[in-house]
Parts: sequence; C-alpha cells; structure tokens
Amino acid sequence: MAYECIEVDKRGPVGLITLNRPKALNALSSQLMAELGEALAAFEADDEVGCMVLTGSEKAFAAGADIKEMQSKSFADVFSEDFITSGWEDLTRCRKPVIAAVAGYALGGGCEVAMMCDFILAADTAKFGQPEITIGTIPGSGGTQRLTRFVGKSKAMEMCLTGRMMDAEEAERAGLVSRIVPAAELLDEAIKTAERIAGMSRPSVLMTKESVNRAYETTLAEGIKYERRLFHSTFATEDQKEGMSAFAEKRQPNFKHR
Ligand code: HXC
Repeated sequence: MAYECIEVDKRGPVGLITLNRPKALNALSSQLMAELGEALAAFEADDEVGCMVLTGSEKAFAAGADIKEMQSKSFADVFSEDFITSGWEDLTRCRKPVIAAVAGYALGGGCEVAMMCDFILAADTAKFGQPEITIGTIPGSGGTQRLTRFVGKSKAMEMCLTGRMMDAEEAERAGLVSRIVPAAELLDEAIKTAERIAGMSRPSVLMTKESVNRAYETTLAEGIKYERRLFHSTFATEDQKEGMSAFAEKRQPNFKHR
C-alpha cells in the first residue's frame, strides 16, 4: 500500500507508523487520518506484529488537525459528516498496544491522538497543548475528556482555556507521559519497549490492555471483578504454565502465543 502522509515499516514484531507531512508539521488532514486507519488495521491483522509505535518528526508529533482544511467548513458540513469522528477513533479500537513516541509539538488533535495511544513516551523536546481556544474552537477528539483524566481538572482546564503548552517535564510530573528520554534516543527506546511487549504472551498483552482500559469505563468493584475473571482465564493458556515453570526453573520463558 502506497501512503502519502505516513510511512510504515515493520521492525521485527513491531509495527512502526511515522506521520510524514513535514511541511505542515504533520497536521492531521483527513487523508492522513484515513491512511493512519488503514495502517493500523493492517498491523492489527498481521499476526507477526505484537505492538505498534506511532511517531512523528523531531519537530512535531503533530501540530493538530489541519486548520486549512477545516477553516471554511460550515456547521452543517461538520455536523452532517460528524467531522473528525470518522477515522480518528480507529486508534482506540486497536486491541494490540500502540505506543506514542512524541518529540516536538503534540498540539490539539496531535495531543488527542497521542492520548488515544496506550501510553506516551516523550522526548525531552516534547510540548503538549490544546490550543483550539486560540483559534475560536474547542478540542474535538477527546482533549477535554482524556486530558482531564490524565492530569486532573485544574491543569486540563487551564490548558484548554488558555492554550498554554506543557513541556515534557511538566507532562511527566502530571502523569500525561510514562517517561522522558533524550530526543536522539526516542525512537530506539520506543521500539525497544514495543519489542519487549511483543515478546510477552499475546493473550496476556491483550487482556492487560483491555483490563487497564476498563478502569476508565466502570466502577472500581466491577473493574476488579473484570480483572479477576481475565486473570483466572490466563490459567487456561499454555503461556501461563510456561511463564511460571520458567520462573521456577530459573530460565527465560518461551511463550508459544506471541
Ligand atoms: C495546518 C499547520 C498546522 C495545522 C502548522 N501548520 N500547524 N497547517 N494545520 N494545525 C503549518 C503552518 O501553516 C506552516 O505552513 C507550517 O506548518 C509551519 O508552521 P509554522 O507556524 O510556520 O511553524 P512555527 O512558527 O515553528 O510554529 C509551530 C506551531 C504553530 C506553534 C506548532 O505552527 C501552530 O501554532 N500551529 C497550530 C497549532 C494549533 O492551533 N493546533 C490545533 C489545531 S485545531 P506554511 O505553509 O505557512 O509554511 C485541532 C482541533 C482538533 O487540532 C479537533 C478534533 C480532531
């Protein structure tokens, strides 16, 4: 498949997607989002891929939805086409983990896309923000919702109301990113992390992702019950037997399902 706005590569068990509209700081045009959806679906269906990495350039992960594409749309247009839903939520439907490796700007829709991934690894150059208010609109793909869950109401409200950006250190302190790495090491570190995940038992990886995500959608008691049932079900897998035997025998596990 030939893509124009993204690059796609397979590094062993890792599916790597690089946003690639450098002249527009990877602004998320509808073509880019459609291509992203296709690439994600292809990696989802590829049995050799156990984890994905989504990244951008040194200067920008993505500077938001494409403002030039949006600017002349009317209310009737955006409402009728449910603008921004189509394609954008594909990321949240992936069952395999997706790591966002963010350097430079992750603004507006760029920050929202990063937050739709399973976790964010940030370069020390990363800058996060929801500047939509400065162009007369509001976040449209989860910014007011996911950012609030990540960093709490006060910080999310300030960022969405003022458009202020957060640097990598503040983002790590606030819990938006899992950790910070030097910019030059970002991609290697993201791929190494993805390889580690892809080396685990696939059913355990998928169950872990499902279970952590359940924490956002249900009560604590229901979430814990859900987790317990999945935990029990791992005892039906050969990989649970292999993992625990390997520990007892002081050797590395050789998981069958990955
Ligand atoms: C279209 C964009 C763009 C965007 C940058 N460009 N961001 N084009 N949509 N979101 C283009 C610029 O027009 C310019 O093109 C080129 O990329 C380089 O950008 P500069 O502004 O010249 O770079 P710089 O001075 O370094 O400033 C970087 C920046 C700034 C701070 C990131 O570009 C910026 O503020 N961008 C917009 C950020 C934003 O408001 N994002 C939210 C979008 S709304 P030319 O042709 O002039 O060289 C949104 C809503 C999501 O995301 C709703 C749901 C999905």
